[in-house]
Amino acid sequence: MTAQALLRRATGLSVSKSVAERAVGQRMEQTGFTDSAAYLQALTPAEMTQLIELVVVPESWLFRDPQAFYATVELVQERWARGRATRILSIPCAGGEEPYSMAMALRDGGVPKQAFSIDAYDLSPGCIERAQAGVYGRNAFRAQDVGFRERYFTHVADDAYRIIDSLREQVTFRQGNLLQFDTATYSRHYDVIFCRNLLIYFDKPTTRAAIHNLSALLADDGMLLAGYAEVPSFCQNGYASLQLRQAFALKKEMLAPASAVQVAPLPALRTLRSVPPAPRRAAVAAPSSATPVAPVALRTRPMSLPSPAPAVQADLLAEARLLADRGQLREAGEKCHAHLARVPEAAEAYFMLGIINELAGKMDLADDYWRRCIYLQPDHYEALCHLSLLAERNGNHTAAATLKARAARIYQRLQASN
Ligand SMILES: C[S@@+](CC[C@H](N)C(=O)[O-])C[C@H]1O[C@@H](n2cnc3c(N)ncnc32)[C@H](O)[C@@H]1O
Repeated sequence: MTAQALLRRATGLSVSKSVAERAVGQRMEQTGFTDSAAYLQALTPAEMTQLIELVVVPESWLFRDPQAFYATVELVQERWARGRATRILSIPCAGGEEPYSMAMALRDGGVPKQAFSIDAYDLSPGCIERAQAGVYGRNAFRAQDVGFRERYFTHVADDAYRIIDSLREQVTFRQGNLLQFDTATYSRHYDVIFCRNLLIYFDKPTTRAAIHNLSALLADDGMLLAGYAEVPSFCQNGYASLQLRQAFALKKEMLAPASAVQVAPLPALRTLRSVPPAPRRAAVAAPSSATPVAPVALRTRPMSLPSPAPAVQADLLAEARLLADRGQLREAGEKCHAHLARVPEAAEAYFMLGIINELAGKMDLADDYWRRCIYLQPDHYEALCHLSLLAERNGNHTAAATLKARAARIYQRLQASN
């Protein structure tokens, strides 16, 4: 089995061939192997863990997308007022930024310790170790308001702050893989689950498997918090939006009718207003222009042309998607280009080229293709989400916020028109 296949099987992550090979090269250097086949042959579970550490993306920060925490505080308060404690799960928790933010928000909200418990899991043992240490540098304090640092952290070195013990003790950290979670023991165990910014790294079948496990873990009247680009995946797999603005909160669809909200009271809409459920877009974007694509542009949209035959579009793009899912990125890219040769204005083909290049670790190209995509189709929700995430990853927070706001507006509009 190739390194890429091994890593995909172990993590579920859509690891590209080049990323997998780079990781193997690094580990071979560190372990003294000179032949990659021999290295893979001798792979022990401990060595596999080291390899996985090189491909995970443990990007996180304190109070990332904070409305999710405020929505949870309100839910915990309401449940506690009815004498019910709330079990919270954060998976994946990266270096602990998410569950600690939850603990801080609950303390800020005056919620007593007995009212909740927080379990936090991540695939990476390195992440869990960092989380248990609870020491963070500048990158973790990217939130707009970092007043919480004064309240809940001790300055321990130049650029290092440690979370206070009484908060650290409120989170139980464990290493764990969502795809291999013991869902039988923890069946319907959690009232609130944070699963943010993980599914974006999975392909469709893995996303479905992950959501299946989350559904097994979440109580039927529970609340699930997703990353903003992941809401559509949940809505396609049995969830409905809870209408809490920018919390990206969902519930199991069987409770979707309005009455369900009364059965299991959810956060009052004090800080949060209406939010859209997943937009339903055609898998293949409607064509819009014959003008050659501007590289990075938010110019006015060119004139529309008649639609090319949808079947032609669907075929090549469906093949490209299949190839990309199998990790055959070069072939997938070729299909997209073949498609573009026939339909130069196909925004969806540019979107896919962005995904393919992201998988290959070519982020600049991915960025360029997604920009072409939104040039052709300014309301391409997923492309905007990916661009926003990429801007965030590059530390360009203003651009990320603008793109995210634009995506949110489109989301709302698509919902209204459905
Ligand atoms: C981008 S971080 C997200 C952290 C946090 N939820 C947030 O939104 O800031 C993604 C994390 O997912 C973890 N991860 C990847 N595959 C996983 C899996 N199959 N099960 C559990 N965690 C996984 C990685 O180790 C990484 O720390």
